[in-house]
Amino acid sequence: IALPSPPPALYPPFFAVTPKDILPDLKFPKGFLFGVASAAYQVEGAVKDEGKGPSVWDCFLRALDKLLTRYFLTILPADVVDLHYYLYKEDVARIAALGINSHSFSISWARIFPFGAADSPVNQEGIDHYADVIATHLKSNVTPVVTLFHWDPPLALSAYYGGFASPNIVDDFIHYAKTVFTAYNGSVHTWYTFNEPQVFCSELGSFPFNLTLPNGVNSSNAQFQCSYYLLKAHAGAVKAFREMHITGEIAFKSADYVGMPWRTNNTEDVDAVERHAAFGIGIFADPVYTTGDWPQILKDTLPPDYLPRFTEEESKEILGESDFFAIDAYRTYWNTAPPEGIGACVKNLSDPLWPSCNLEVMVDLNGWASGPASDPLTPWLQATPQFLRTSFKEYHRRWPAPKIYFSEFGFTQPFEGLRTPAELSQITEDPERTNYYMTYLGELLLSIHEDGIPVEGAFAWAIMDNAEWNSGLSARFGIQYVNYSSPNLERSYKRSAFALCKFMAFSET
Ligand code: NOJ
Repeated sequence: IALPSPPPALYPPFFAVTPKDILPDLKFPKGFLFGVASAAYQVEGAVKDEGKGPSVWDCFLRALDKLLTRYFLTILPADVVDLHYYLYKEDVARIAALGINSHSFSISWARIFPFGAADSPVNQEGIDHYADVIATHLKSNVTPVVTLFHWDPPLALSAYYGGFASPNIVDDFIHYAKTVFTAYNGSVHTWYTFNEPQVFCSELGSFPFNLTLPNGVNSSNAQFQCSYYLLKAHAGAVKAFREMHITGEIAFKSADYVGMPWRTNNTEDVDAVERHAAFGIGIFADPVYTTGDWPQILKDTLPPDYLPRFTEEESKEILGESDFFAIDAYRTYWNTAPPEGIGACVKNLSDPLWPSCNLEVMVDLNGWASGPASDPLTPWLQATPQFLRTSFKEYHRRWPAPKIYFSEFGFTQPFEGLRTPAELSQITEDPERTNYYMTYLGELLLSIHEDGIPVEGAFAWAIMDNAEWNSGLSARFGIQYVNYSSPNLERSYKRSAFALCKFMAFSET
């Protein structure tokens, strides 16, 4: 397709703005959660300690020599990463010192149930550990926001029955959720059941999760079996939350985006936007927030043996099971129809463009972690702050909820094994990330004030550099640098951390 030029960016790239350049006059609403985020697997380390069972990821990292070789200099097995499992007191103190008032982190299921299953033993050391983690946050006035599942299923459940590709996962997850609710009721107010389920499930049939898949489940339909069981597990956990009278609020955390048609008023591109939104967010958000059912586009595209249909009772159980809407909104793309036409991607399930059936047109809005671009004019990642307000309007219009959390946003740069003090000072000087946060937060304030979008929290990913899944330590998202060569895994604030802290000071009610 001949692509017209993109709309002009609101902000020049790599122009590091200061909070004052943005919007010194607007304030965040009272009680706004100004937070950082992390996830157990990505920061904790200590994978074999204090009774923890292995998660799928612990096993996967050991097994894949290829990956280790590829990232020889930059990957550290998650056995260690940031050792946040032992250094959490220091880590909480460091974010409290910045004035950050919240930390969204996850509990490792395999620390609570080393074998995962409901009829397997609980690990009291794991329960006690997170009790202290939560208490430490509360003592420092850092509000803990807790995710039950951030992509790290206990390995045993994959071995027993194929993890999230099996219906057995539903009861095991609900039991785990109830155990955690009981343990921390009253200390945690905001809960997420699942982190980015669509990212997790779409990886299920492929590396690294395909350890065992039950009969009839393969790399093509696993995503949708997983989506179905995961929604049932979510609904069951929320139902338990209500029945147990747990104080607080609960939802899941969405990923992905509602894009924009590359060619305005072009039906094919508008359809591509709809398809992408349905497969990316609607797949979980429609059942929970609006219809109790899959988006129509999914049902039209996927046969029932691909996408199990909900019974009426299941639909009722799932619909409405959330107290707020949460979105990890890192960036937005334009969408356009694939060159061969839409028909091709609907019919041909092996088409690499399927199921989102569109082209993501990034132009100069690159993906992340792609390494320094060979074209020096194309920076590693350009943010899309100019679309944040449109995106939030769309989320709110499509999946209305009384409040929204901007549950993750962040920026990475590749890390090529920099080590020396001189290099350290370079890496902690991060104008691009600073620019990203300042522009996004500025737009977010406008979203709240001008558009009336009820955003009540924003969480910078991440509290510090960490293990970025398949990219290991080669993608660094932290607002704190971690020196993986130093014996005590020394942390240093990056410039973006100070900028966040200043922005908050300007904009606190
Ligand atoms: C969202 C995921 O929740 C998190 O685990 C990941 O590290 C970030 N995106 C960055 O890719």
